[in-house]
Amino acid sequence: MSVVPTDIEHEVKSVDIVVSKGDAEGNITYANPIFFKLAGYSQGELLEQPHSIIRHPDMPKVIFKFLWDNLKSGKDVKTFVKNLCKDGGFYWVFAHVRVATNPDGSFRNYVSTRKGMSPGARAIIESLYRQLSEAENIGGIDDSLSILEAFLKEQGGSLDTFNDIMQKIQNS
Ligand SMILES: Cc1cc2nc3c(=O)[nH]c(=O)nc-3n(C[C@H](O)[C@H](O)[C@H](O)COP(=O)(O)O)c2cc1C
Repeated sequence: MSVVPTDIEHEVKSVDIVVSKGDAEGNITYANPIFFKLAGYSQGELLEQPHSIIRHPDMPKVIFKFLWDNLKSGKDVKTFVKNLCKDGGFYWVFAHVRVATNPDGSFRNYVSTRKGMSPGARAIIESLYRQLSEAENIGGIDDSLSILEAFLKEQGGSLDTFNDIMQKIQNS
């Protein structure tokens, strides 16, 4: 599906909690009504489709690599995501993605719970993601990873404390 991005922003209200679940490959197996409403697609258009259907081209690859590396090793990730809507618009969220397990400990699904991004975070993250994308376009993901690590260090942490730093930025 080729959606041409525009600069029209869709508002995520402070009461909104945008939820979706994914299978082992990241295909959407469930989403709540606000997820469909924001994205501008019907259930039928999104269910069983990969989450990347709403991937925005402004999102750096390194963020999704970090997400999947952590999910595959059973770890939660808290991160900011800019998503692309069917009409080309976008919305920003602060996502908490985790691995849900069955009572016997086996994999059940991945669950993402998203809230609106705080204004304080917006100022920091838009600029960071722009730098990451620029570095990726020139030198690939190794270069954007170096920039991400330098940013986390500046914030007093590292890749190991990524979630804490993102939460702190969301609270700022
Ligand atoms: C539960 C779950 C929720 C996800 N939510 C999003 C999302 O809202 N937007 C997005 O672009 N990617 C989301 N992803 C990541 C996608 O699976 C994918 O890695 C990303 O869109 C990048 O796509 P690409 O690897 O094909 O470039 C989610 C993954 C999981 C497991």
